[in-house]
Amino acid sequence: MEKQSERRPESEPVIYARSSEESWLREQKNKQKRAAIPHVKKDKDVPWEQSAQAYRKHFAHGGLGNRYSLAPIGSMTVAKQLLPPLGKGGKHRHYNEALLYIVEGEGYEMHDGVKYPFAAGDLVCVPTYCIHQHCNDSKNWVNVFYCTGYDFCDFLGIQSTEQIEMHPNYRPPENSQILKDQKGQVVGYKTPEGLEIRFGLNEELQLLMDAKKSGQFQGEVRNNYDFYVRTLSEQIRWRQSAIRIIKGNERPWEDTRMGRIKYLSHPNTNSGLLLFDTFIQELPPGGASGKHRHVSEEVHLILEGRGYDFHDGVRWDWDKDDVVFMPVNTVHQHFNADTRNPARFVSVQSRLYHYMGHGGFEHMEDAPK
Ligand SMILES: [Fe+2]
Ligand SMILES: [Fe+2]
Repeated sequence: MEKQSERRPESEPVIYARSSEESWLREQKNKQKRAAIPHVKKDKDVPWEQSAQAYRKHFAHGGLGNRYSLAPIGSMTVAKQLLPPLGKGGKHRHYNEALLYIVEGEGYEMHDGVKYPFAAGDLVCVPTYCIHQHCNDSKNWVNVFYCTGYDFCDFLGIQSTEQIEMHPNYRPPENSQILKDQKGQVVGYKTPEGLEIRFGLNEELQLLMDAKKSGQFQGEVRNNYDFYVRTLSEQIRWRQSAIRIIKGNERPWEDTRMGRIKYLSHPNTNSGLLLFDTFIQELPPGGASGKHRHVSEEVHLILEGRGYDFHDGVRWDWDKDDVVFMPVNTVHQHFNADTRNPARFVSVQSRLYHYMGHGGFEHMEDAPK
């Protein structure tokens, strides 16, 4: 019998591999798609949607099929979310972590049955695979800026949302037929096209996660295999005790070469987030930030003021409530156009690039003093 090592492609029919051409073409297409999308999305141009979770505006939407369709970034879903007075969002769970920057209002989170109060300026951390619900117990609206790593989970094959409870104002799509269980509870709906959408916990996944919880590591790590057995236990413990609310007024301002910055989540800060860095930046009246570039994508919500950015030499103007995107490898600098008042924004940056060995800032110019 012929040995495997002696076989040569020359002796067999060869199929031409198109993978390198396809990947080159995909790269060009992605570049073109990114270049065609504005870097500033005006708040007024994005409609409110009513989903199972809440009232939302999507500025960048997840899923591999949606990549670069709404925004020139692809690693995070970005949305604004509203909670009406004394209202709440849907109760649900997903693999991906999520962050909520509280722009206005106060309320509380329910995470795996535990209550965590929040107020304006706080950062809510929803760790991976946690049953959560955002609640408003005040008479004012709660206004939230929201980012998740949904897109990355989709890529990894673990995107899953288990809808346990709908928000109180939830209405299924028009002309759909509500599906109820024997107790009369709404368990889903059927679209006019006959598509059945089901809510509720994923029993199979629940069993898998319960099995994980019972597997606490005992004894010592004696080899490389044990390292990973212990890792599972450590990550379960981390998820259970992870910090859920980062109080904005307890975090320090820092005068950096990029300007005045207050980090809320950072690799040096203990939090329930592993995928996102979050900070507030303030630009003085008529002032500017430093100039830099990083591989990672970045997104800003303008909290206060008006101004403009330069991205690779192109000017993008922004106002309060706008969302600004910095695609991968963009040289950027931020300017306050108001000479009397400061401008402020919250920035979210994906930390995934950092874990992949593409982290860090290429600092080019200091912020003017
Ligand atoms: Fe969620
Ligand atoms: Fe940046």
